[in-house]
Amino acid sequence: MWAAYNLFPVSISLSNQPIFAQKLPVIVKFAFQNARPDGPAPFRHLLRRAGPGEFGGREKQMLLLHNPSSHTGFAPDRVLLVGLGEKNQCGIEKLRRAAGLATRRIAELGLERAAFEAPGGMGAHGKSADCAGALAEAILLASYRFRQFKHNEQAPAELKSVALCLPPDADHRAAEREVRHCRVAAEAANYAREISNLPGNVVDPEALAGYARKLARSHKLKCAVYGRAQLQRRGFGGLLAVGGGSARPPRLIVLEYRGVRAPGKPPVAIVGKAITFDSGGVSIKPSEKMDEMKFDKCGGVAVLGAMRAVAELKMRLNVIGVIAAAENMPSATSYRPGDILTSYKGTDKAPVTVEVLNTDAEGRIVLGDALVYARQRDPRLIIDLATLTGACVIALGPYAAGLMSNDKDLLRDIENAGETTGERVWPFPLWEEYSERIKSEVADIKNTGGREGGAITAAAFLKRYVGETPWAHLDIAGTAWTTQQLPYLAKGATGFGVRLLTELFRRWERQ
Ligand code: BES
Ligand code: MN
Ligand code: ZN
Repeated sequence: MWAAYNLFPVSISLSNQPIFAQKLPVIVKFAFQNARPDGPAPFRHLLRRAGPGEFGGREKQMLLLHNPSSHTGFAPDRVLLVGLGEKNQCGIEKLRRAAGLATRRIAELGLERAAFEAPGGMGAHGKSADCAGALAEAILLASYRFRQFKHNEQAPAELKSVALCLPPDADHRAAEREVRHCRVAAEAANYAREISNLPGNVVDPEALAGYARKLARSHKLKCAVYGRAQLQRRGFGGLLAVGGGSARPPRLIVLEYRGVRAPGKPPVAIVGKAITFDSGGVSIKPSEKMDEMKFDKCGGVAVLGAMRAVAELKMRLNVIGVIAAAENMPSATSYRPGDILTSYKGTDKAPVTVEVLNTDAEGRIVLGDALVYARQRDPRLIIDLATLTGACVIALGPYAAGLMSNDKDLLRDIENAGETTGERVWPFPLWEEYSERIKSEVADIKNTGGREGGAITAAAFLKRYVGETPWAHLDIAGTAWTTQQLPYLAKGATGFGVRLLTELFRRWERQ
């Protein structure tokens, strides 16, 4: 039961033919608020027949015009006008959203081929190459839906091919490079979405390891999977405790990509929480919305997606991905409140011991082991991704991931990458006071710091395991999946983090 989304690829090409010359079922033309879209005379004539209330270029506004007769200068059957809002407030993310809406509209119309205008002049990061990339991304992301378990349903119409039309003065080579990067990143995000959307009965820790092995085979990565016996031998006390209540044993999954062969090039490490289902364990969660806890693996799956993208883009840097996979269940073999665990020690002088106060605060425990494992490989930095706390969702809602770091440069790089990809992140402080809150009377630390500042005390817990290594933690609890249709993302897993990491790696590769 492998990811099936790529049975429906949208093929994307670049064109330097003017958009109005495209003989296609539909072309997509963008317009700013209160700016009359330009085009050949028959188009302008058609547009004049629309009333003033029908299209003003407002955000989310669309107008479909039918072309009654095809001329060489005005060849498409239809023009879909799409509003971008105020010009001075329009950036690349607004363009993605507009393109996402347009993509869905075209699919609803049952049209399979389209051309999109790739505008330019969208502020600092809005050259036409960047716009073309953003369009490719939005079209691919908007075309994905979790459909592999729905049959007996009429196959929905699919957008099959899109031409992106560049303005005449555009740098065609730069646009080609950008579109390739964005296409690979968006397809990797869709791959991650498909795995993340799979339920707990289908994807357990071993199944996730299966996805990692398959990815390693197809993308020439190194892959190692540690099962229960190996975890026991090596002393992964955290992962074993959290996974102990499940009939589906935990796994530590390690993927390695080498883009630089030269010795002495330390890798970047990315670490992900992959709880394939989080019932809360003995400290069981309320049943309302518990189904959403199949998404508690999204951090780990984002690591899979990012590994796929770096490998496909053959990036010139080394990356190691570490995924802590377990299912958190209540049973006779579960860990319990009051337990004292010993985390993985690695080559550290002493292991960290953890007093368990709540078995539902399991993510930090499995990540503790995974962070120590990652640090043993001498990475130049570590980034972890985790659907770690409900508190982060309370703080930021579904609009941004929480970002916590011990390194200012890393923090800034992640902020910039997120800004570019439209995956928003927002910083929280990591002052000593938060670490005070997780001190235990009977062990080194306890696994909850109370309700106040819950997202940060969870990060303070992780900080205990990273030592001096530059590290950043992304709490993606609010952003990893969406319960509402978004402009370019359907309900379900969003693939949050995959494009952000791919963008980050590209910047580091250039340095
Ligand atoms: N996976 C959850 C966090 C979560 C909750 C993500 C809701 C998205 C939506 C995590 O394992 C958890 O249960 N955290 C607890 C920690 C608490 C017991 C200290 C939480 O946030 O309630
Ligand atoms: Mn939990
Ligand atoms: Zn969890």
